Amino acid sequence: MFAGLKPQPPDKILMLMGQFRDDPRADKIDLGVGVYRDATGRTPVMRAVKAAERRLWETQTTKTYTALAGDAAFLDAMAGLILGGAVPRERVAAVATPGGTGAIRQGMELIRHAAPDATVWVSDPTWPNHTSILSYLGLPWRSYRYFDAATRGVDVAGMLADLRGARAGDVVLLHGCCHNPTGADLSPADWEEVARVLAARGAVPFIDLAYQGFGDGLDADAAGTRLIAGRLPEVLIAASCSKNFGIYRERTGILMALSDPARQAVTQGTLAWLNRQNYSFPPDHGARVVSTILGDAALRADWEAELDAVRTAMLGLRESLAAELRRLTNSGRFDFIARHRGMFSQTGASPEQVERMRAEHGIYMVSDSRMNIAGLNAATVPVLARAIVAVGV
Ligand code: LMR
Repeated sequence: MFAGLKPQPPDKILMLMGQFRDDPRADKIDLGVGVYRDATGRTPVMRAVKAAERRLWETQTTKTYTALAGDAAFLDAMAGLILGGAVPRERVAAVATPGGTGAIRQGMELIRHAAPDATVWVSDPTWPNHTSILSYLGLPWRSYRYFDAATRGVDVAGMLADLRGARAGDVVLLHGCCHNPTGADLSPADWEEVARVLAARGAVPFIDLAYQGFGDGLDADAAGTRLIAGRLPEVLIAASCSKNFGIYRERTGILMALSDPARQAVTQGTLAWLNRQNYSFPPDHGARVVSTILGDAALRADWEAELDAVRTAMLGLRESLAAELRRLTNSGRFDFIARHRGMFSQTGASPEQVERMRAEHGIYMVSDSRMNIAGLNAATVPVLARAIVAVGV
């Protein structure tokens, strides 16, 4: 059986984690995988998470199974956090999943089950695992124009023109905020236009919301998702708690499928059944930490405060990197870094320049020039700026 196995292509983001670990240089800088690091380079457990875990440890009396869909309190709390009341709860079918990737995977499983001939449209570029899972599941997919390499913003006209080519029932994967890998987001007016085109085409939006709270704030980052949810009859939303709760390894996510209330029960049943086919019950610990935090006013306020501090620290790093590059190049060429949102920016470095930054400066970023802003600190911003200029970006 195993004789036919072939080596799989490495994931370009995860491959960097190993390379970085094996690099003996003391001053190496990791701007690869999307993990937040504080000014001392640590990825801390958030205060509210620690408090919720303590509370669970003290009060939890059983570890028996929950429901196939996961704990109802988690699903309700997350529906509230993401949708903010934009749609009635009876339109929402929801299941807990192992992380945001699990939600993406289960959403794609649902598409394969319900509409195997639908084409899934993804932004060019997108998170590489989107297309990897689509190909693995054998779902047809195509790219729509998204990133304008010249302005390093969104090519809105190109995007809308391509989406006008979607057929009724096609699925359009959108990044809810903090676009991965580019950092370039749709404006509120752009979201309106996208909603109009998708409604006119009869396409189904599938929103990947992995970074709510990392861009402009919890509500602002969900605004596009809420607009789409309120306008379109059928919507898929995959959300992750890895980043905004900092519980990466707990694997905590949610998949929501919005439909007509008359279809909610069968949609809910299908999502639960898909969980059963893949892993049965979803992980519970992280989900229970999240619902404990969101359901307690004091814990929630503390979580929001800490998340906001993380967000503003990232914005500050963006501002100071753009300012340092303005000083070094005597130009506004890199001002887009301050305009981008979330953890990532694509700098526009060629793969050769990315490799030189790694080899000559010990700076790790993804070969498509995506860098993780949250991996920087006040000391490393000028080092990165000098390297960017030295390799000729
Ligand atoms: C990233 O894009 O770096 C993160 O979403 C982590 C991952 O799983 O790729």
